[in-house]
Amino acid sequence: MKKILSLMLVLTILSSLTACAGSGGQAETSSRAAETAAESGTELSGAAAESSEETSEAAAQSETEASETASADPALSGNILVAYFSWADNAILDENVDAMSSPSVLSPGNVEQLAGWVQEETGGDLFSIRVTDPYPSDWDACLDRANEERGNGVRPELVENVSDLGQYDTVFLGYPNWWYGVPMALLTFLEQNDFSGKQVYLFCSHGTGGLANSVELITEAAPDAVISDSIFDCYEEDAPSSEEAVKAWVAGLGIAGAGSAASEQPAPQAEAAAADRVAVRCGEIEVIYELNDSPAAAALAAQLPLTLEVEDYSTNEKIFYPPQELDTSGTPAAEGGAGTLAYYAPWGDVVMFYGDYNANSSLYELGEAVSGAGQISQMSGSIEVAPLEE
Ligand SMILES: Cc1cc2nc3c(=O)[nH]c(=O)nc-3n(C[C@H](O)[C@H](O)[C@H](O)COP(=O)(O)O)c2cc1C
Repeated sequence: MKKILSLMLVLTILSSLTACAGSGGQAETSSRAAETAAESGTELSGAAAESSEETSEAAAQSETEASETASADPALSGNILVAYFSWADNAILDENVDAMSSPSVLSPGNVEQLAGWVQEETGGDLFSIRVTDPYPSDWDACLDRANEERGNGVRPELVENVSDLGQYDTVFLGYPNWWYGVPMALLTFLEQNDFSGKQVYLFCSHGTGGLANSVELITEAAPDAVISDSIFDCYEEDAPSSEEAVKAWVAGLGIAGAGSAASEQPAPQAEAAAADRVAVRCGEIEVIYELNDSPAAAALAAQLPLTLEVEDYSTNEKIFYPPQELDTSGTPAAEGGAGTLAYYAPWGDVVMFYGDYNANSSLYELGEAVSGAGQISQMSGSIEVAPLEE
């Protein structure tokens, strides 16, 4: 059954080749689709191989075209939201996940990476659209579920929504092409918020299917949004190396200089002086962190003291959610091991690592534990996060 569905996707992607050629002139055969077809014994290899070769060139051309058209758009103004959907943020990670056949399920996802660069360039607020019922991490199983949702017009429930979309004038919206359209959760997000008059810029990653019907679906779900014709799209395998292209596209929209929106206008939160040291207390346990001098650390310090619930995440992290998002502009990436205090921007949680972890473009360093790190793993329930009294 799965193979039939995979094959259906292959055929659909192939059949949409002509229809989508206008949006960037890209070749239309998915590398994954080709793999799946090979598995099913389907004779796809000739077309797939050819289109794969053409894809990088076509994607580069599409990116250049996007960047050129972009400069005609009005200058961006006001607050910016960067909202995106990525499979990696919406999957139940199976320990046996096949990284070859389901690569973008491993964090960072393709769209997640694109969104991170848009955020860096705009200084906007990053928001990951996440469903309450995550998708399987197996490629075929995820295809099945996504297709079923598409067929039934499902609107998956979201974990959370943007607290007040009204504060944003401009929204960058990122998504993967799913079944020649969009993940249905994107439509939930669009329909649950009022996009009237918002300037919306779309960016998309795909397996060579291009934008397909995505723009039409988005326009239908947010009919009063002002959706720019300047759309960034890239082939899935080009996504990880698209930082320059993404930033060039954003710069072409009228933002002065890379990261300028963030670095030239410090957010009010970041103006507060950072407490050098903070204590995280849980019963008898006390962990002392030395904060760095980043805007994100200052933004956390400005919210203290806080009493919150600590949560388990994976086998190496304890996390908590400060009430307000942290401004990550100018904040270094977290790349250490146990003892790091970090901020995961897509979810807005502060992470206390007690084991090694992989660096991630959305993970920012706030500081390091100077004492008590060995006890982090034992924290549970209510914690107090407070500036350290000297
Ligand atoms: C459920 C599902 C359906 C997909 N359907 C298509 C499709 O119809 N056309 C296409 O070009 N790519 C398709 N893809 C590939 C994704 O668009 C592509 O891998 C993208 O880069 C994934 O971004 P992400 O890692 O942020 O989720 C599909 C992927 C998934 C998981």
